[in-house]
Parts: sequence; structure tokens; C-alpha cells
Amino acid sequence: MKRILSGIKPSGDLNIGGYSGALQQYVAMQHEYENFFFVPDLHAVTVPQDPLELYHRSKEIAAFYVAAGVDPAKSAIFLQSQVSAHAELGWLMETQVHFGELSRMTQFKDKSDGKDAVSSALFTYPALMAADILLYQATHVPVGEDQKQHVELTRDLATRFNNRFGETFTVPEPIIQDLGCRIMSLDDPSKKMSKSNPNKNSYVLLLDEPDTIRKKLSRAVTDSEMSVRYDPENKPAVSNLLEIYSIFSEEPISVIEKRYEGQGYGGFKKDLAEAVISKLEPIQRNFREIIDSEELVRILKDGAERASAVANETLLKAKKAMGFLTF
Ligand code: AMP
Ligand code: TRP
Repeated sequence: MKRILSGIKPSGDLNIGGYSGALQQYVAMQHEYENFFFVPDLHAVTVPQDPLELYHRSKEIAAFYVAAGVDPAKSAIFLQSQVSAHAELGWLMETQVHFGELSRMTQFKDKSDGKDAVSSALFTYPALMAADILLYQATHVPVGEDQKQHVELTRDLATRFNNRFGETFTVPEPIIQDLGCRIMSLDDPSKKMSKSNPNKNSYVLLLDEPDTIRKKLSRAVTDSEMSVRYDPENKPAVSNLLEIYSIFSEEPISVIEKRYEGQGYGGFKKDLAEAVISKLEPIQRNFREIIDSEELVRILKDGAERASAVANETLLKAKKAMGFLTF
């Protein structure tokens, strides 16, 4: 049986990078797997969060899963904080991970860089992420490039635990698509597209209005060559726009390159904006319908119940293996 566990942190507004690297993959892959798509709200609080914002964002991420096409009948959709096994196995995984391993995580280095008060949870975060994945015996974890290191660490921890305490956890594989696994900033193709960038024109949000999307994409940096060609080494900005175009239009890059052969960037950027808008419009419509509905509450309650059943079983197995009394 093939099983997926993955999630998007409710720590900021969702942008098209998260759509490309994560959400779009969830929708595409869900039929071949048994799925657990969660909202890692316990991960969000590793950096300070305004309680009201956390509340709304957590609901929003869950609503985006449904709005983009994750089928709640097929997939369990739930909030991490509603399945207490995550926090409990997270602690047990902290006893298995080494300080040195956590020190090597690039996300921690990036997020703590230059800050003087960093929570210890930001440092131990990968142990909780390992627990998230291992609780469901996930075989596959679809993520963007930036999460690869965390999934690799999860694999090491699962193997270490199994060797020490007996076969307990499935060792998961990351699924990182070739294209769109690292969407770059629109103002600087050397930086990942991220909601933490102070320049609002550097990203497109899933809830951006059509005119905002047109404006942001028309301002995206390109290069002076004036040829629409995929060459990430020498033409990183244009290649990034081509990846976005391909993800949103569901056309191969080669087809898009051919369409704009011998042309500059004007028409290409205009059509790119329309491709993004036409994919986002139905998602935004669905989102508005579900965000304040009773149905979303029902989906999340049902998801947490289904998730708890699986997670509690694995937690019990892990506790027994480690020698805890479990009567
Ligand atoms: P986050 O919003 O940081 O929780 O990220 C949610 C998911 O989206 C993770 O799987 C990330 O790897 C992925 N992701 C975030 N930003 C990008 C990006 N710029 N390009 C591709 N994938 C991304
Ligand atoms: N760490 C992921 C991120 O920052 C979010 C996350 C938490 C996650 N637990 C996970 C993703 C388990 C996949 C599987 O984007």
C-alpha cells in the first residue's frame, strides 16, 4: 500500500511556489495513494504567531486543499494540533536525533540567521516533522526542494529507530518533481519565492486578484537577450517564468518555447499571467465557498478522526518498542 503524508505550514499567505511544489502535486497524486494532508500548525508556532492570524491561516490552508481539488472522501484532511500523537512522537524522535544533525539543517540556519531570540522548537522542528511522516507509515512525501533535507533526516531517523528497537517505521521517499520544485522570486531569480520577502511584487499569492497577478508578472525581471528559452544556468529569470507557465498551463516547456520563438517577452508575460489567472480563478471561487462553511469543520473533524486512528496505532507500537508500559 502506498501512502502519502504532506502539509503546508499556516505561517503566511500561500503563494504560487507552495502551489507548485506541494498543493498541485497533492491533487495530481491523490488517486494513486492513500493520503493524509495536514495543516502543520504546531510547526507554524516555532516562530512567533499572532493567535488570531494563526487561527484564520490554519483554516485557510485546509480550505485551499479542498478548493484546489483534494477530495476529502479519499484523503484525510486535518490539523496537526488536533492529533496529539504528533506532539508525543515528536518528543520521542527528539531523543533519537543528534544535536549535530539538527545543526546542519539549512532551514534552521536561514531562519535563525541574524536573530537573537530563536525558540528551541525552531531547532528541534525536524524531529516533529519526522514524527508527522512516520506516524502514518508514509511511503511517499511530496514536497518542494527546500524540504528534501528534512525528509532525508526522517529516513535516517526511521532507520536508526528500526535498527535499535526493531522494525517499527516505514522509511519514506521524498517526491520532488523536476519542474516547479523551487519557484524563484520574481524580482531576484537567485532567491526562493517566499511570503517572507518584504517586496510584495516578488510573489503571486493564491488569493491575488487578476489585475494584481497581471501587474506582478509584467514587472517580473527577465534578461536582455529577448528570447524565451529554458536555460536555468544562463537565463534563470526567464527559466523560472517558463516553469511557472508550464505548471499553470500544464503544457511542456518545449511547446511554450516554440510558441514564442523569435518574439520578445511582452506577449509571453501577458499569456503567462492569463494561464495563472485561469488556474487560480476556480480555486479562489471554491475557496470563498468553503472557507466559512460548516462543511470545512466537518471535513477537519472527520480527517482528525481518521488520522488519529492510524497515528495512535503507530505511536503505541513505537512506545512498546522503546520499553514504555502501555497497558
Ligand atoms: P511552506 O509554506 O514553507 O510550509 O511550504 C509548503 C510546501 O511548499 C513545502 O513542500 C515546500 O517545499 C513547498 N514550497 C514552498 N515554497 C516553494 C517554492 N518557492 N517553490 C516550490 N515549492 C515551494
Ligand atoms: N516543514 C514543512 C515546510 O516548512 C512543513 C511540514 C511539516 C511537512 N511536517 C511535514 C511537510 C511533513 C511534509 C511532511 O514546508
